[in-house]
This record gives sequence, structure tokens and C-alpha cells, in this order.
Amino acid sequence: MSTGHPELVAAIVSEIAASGPIPFVRFMELALYHPQFGYYTRSPEPRQERIGWQGDFYTSSDVHPILGQALAKQAEQMYRLLGQPHPFTIVEMGPGKGLLAKHILATCAHHHRSFFQDLRYVLIERSPAMRELQRRNLAPWLDRPDLLTWVDELTNVAPQGLSGLFFSNELVDSFPVHRVQVTAKGTQELWVDYRDGRFVECLMPLSSDTLVQRVRRMSADWPEGYRTEINLRASDWMKQVAQQLDRGFALTIDYGHTAEDLYRSDRKHGTFLCYFQQSINEDPFLRVGEQDMTAHVDFSSLAATGDEQELYTTGFTNQMSFLMGLGVEQMIAELEQDSPAFKAAIHLLRPNGMGTTFKVLIQHKGIRQPELDGLQYKPFFGSALTTQSAA
Ligand SMILES: C[S@@+](CC[C@H](N)C(=O)[O-])C[C@H]1O[C@@H](n2cnc3c(N)ncnc32)[C@H](O)[C@@H]1O
Repeated sequence: MSTGHPELVAAIVSEIAASGPIPFVRFMELALYHPQFGYYTRSPEPRQERIGWQGDFYTSSDVHPILGQALAKQAEQMYRLLGQPHPFTIVEMGPGKGLLAKHILATCAHHHRSFFQDLRYVLIERSPAMRELQRRNLAPWLDRPDLLTWVDELTNVAPQGLSGLFFSNELVDSFPVHRVQVTAKGTQELWVDYRDGRFVECLMPLSSDTLVQRVRRMSADWPEGYRTEINLRASDWMKQVAQQLDRGFALTIDYGHTAEDLYRSDRKHGTFLCYFQQSINEDPFLRVGEQDMTAHVDFSSLAATGDEQELYTTGFTNQMSFLMGLGVEQMIAELEQDSPAFKAAIHLLRPNGMGTTFKVLIQHKGIRQPELDGLQYKPFFGSALTTQSAA
């Protein structure tokens, strides 16, 4: 029996009843972002939270402010490289609880005062419930609408283009994905049907020409039975970011890989996962709307889409190297050895954990190839970032 939030399940069932099976990407869109009942859209039940140590999963910003501090330092260097524009706008999309914004603003206010005077911070959040959490964490800045504002859609940020930084942490992995599988009939897509009181998956033809083209480019050596995810929304998003940016940078942090690595023929089961109360499972039909769903990010397609829009790759690294380049050793040295804060900061750097799972892609537009502190240490990836899975 499929389980989940009753009104959400009813909404998905009625869509299937009206028009037949839906592509998995649509199921994931409804489960996470249905306007009223989606996992991210509605308020969590009392005493529950989505993101954090007591929630379904935690992110780097829950671990320690050090990532926000390093990002502030990196943004300040970008501001200088751009010639100190007024304003320099940081646009953060998918800010979760708003903790990174809180850490970035606090660091700029205390340590980068002239940058802070030129800074505008825009949060893009379409969920009223998440927006409320962000307002709570950003309470000290709420009386500064010249500094801090919210918009609900990326396309509403800067129709004339802006100078600054588009930034996100764990946004792209939360975009709905197409799921595909190689069968004897060729590569097919997972669709979702509702039979005998439960959601079931069925394999049917690919649902769009864009998907057909993307699969054609990627799938040459996938064996029969191979299953993976394609995040077309990520390419659309990257294109919009590039179009809103006149001069400046995009900085994307997430777990993911180069296309060569993500779509290796031996990675047969893809990377799709669900998170519920700090544990993982692979069943999207369990607790529909009550658990998170994600898939690892294909950074090559982000870089390729950026290239097409004159948003060029500055560099691609992992979180550990990024933080080291921004002087995290010194920041950690100031913490009391073996204190909880010290251990938390180290957690962000772990070579077999968050330090290497998380990757950082930085792109630039309207400026010649810049040298950035966060990119000064080169990580050793299995494969280089190429643009072979172009949008
Ligand atoms: C995994 S959380 C990221 C958490 C946060 N960045 C952090 O570091 O803790 C994903 C966030 O992306 C938001 N999101 C997803 N798609 C979005 C979109 N199209 N526009 C704005 N926010 C979006 C979700 O509402 C959620 O807040």
C-alpha cells in the first residue's frame, strides 16, 4: 500500500485518473512542490522539521557557520574583482532555513564592512513555509529592505540583469528528475500509475524530445537494466541564471559528479534516494510528501549550459578544497580543539564525507577568467569537467 500525506496522495491519484500514468518527474514535482500539500511547500507538523539534526536530513549550514564564513570571503573577493559594483547582489536560491544567508550576512557585517555597504541579498523561495523559517533566522535584518528581500521566482529577480553572485547549496539535487532505464526495446522512461490502491512504476517511451536527445548523447555504453536520472530542469535553471546575470558569478554547491562519472556504465542503479528522519531508502511511493527525494547533480550539463550563455566555467572543485583555499585552517585553529564546534567544522572537510561528496562549480560572466581563492587547490577527480552532456 502506498502511504503518504492524504490530500497529496488524493491530488496525485486524481491527476492519474484524469489523464493516465504520469512521468516520474511529474510525480516528484507534486510530491515535493504541490502548491498546497508538497513536502517543501506545506508547513511541517508541529515539533517536526524538514532540514536539520531533528529533521529528515541536514545540510552543511546546520553543521557549522564556517561554510557561510568562507562564502562571505569568496563573495568579497568577487566584488573586488568586479570593481566594487554598487550594488553587488547575492541571489540565493532554495535557501532552506536561511542559515547560510544568516552566516554570510553576519560575516560581511563584522569583517567586510565596505563590501557590506554595497551588498544586497535576495532570497528566492516559493514555499511560504520555508520563507517563514527564513524570516525567523534572519530576524536581525528584517528592518533592512534595502539589504534583504525575497522573490518567489528566479525570472523576477533582475529583468535588466545584475552584477553579483547567484549562489545555491543543495538546490539542484532537489529538482524533479526524469528516471530512465535501458530495456530490450531501448531506453524507456519510468512513469507512475495507480493500481489497486497503490502507486506503481511502469516503463513507457521517453516523454519529451529534449529527453530523447539528452539520452542519445549519454547512453552509448549503458547495459540493459541500467537505470539513471536526467535532470532537465537543472539546465533550464542554469540558462535562467545566466540570463539574469549581467556581470558576475554563479556558485553552485551540491553532491554530484562530472557526466563521465555520473553516467559510468557500472553505476547501474543511478543515484535517486529518499530521506526520512536521517535514514535513506529508494522507495518514492513510501510516505509520499513526507520524505525528501533527491538525485546527484550532473555538473557537466550545468557547465555546458553556462558556456552556451557566456557564463564560463571558472573552476570545479570539492568542498574540502574550496574551504581550504579560503583559509578554513586558520578559522578552525581559532576553535577550541575537540570542542563540538571544532568537530562540526572538521565534519565539513572529511575526505570520505562532506568534504569530497560536495562539489563546488564556479562560473563567471562579463569578466576575464578570474583567479579565485576558493579554487586555488585542485582536487583530484577521476575525470575532468567536460561539457559532453550539453543541454
Ligand atoms: C535541500 S533544500 C536546500 C537547503 C539550503 N540551501 C541549505 O543549505 O540548508 C532545497 C531547497 O530548495 C528549494 N527549492 C527547490 N526548487 C526551487 C525553486 N524552483 N525555486 C526556489 N526554491 C526552490 C526548496 O523549497 C528548499 O528550500
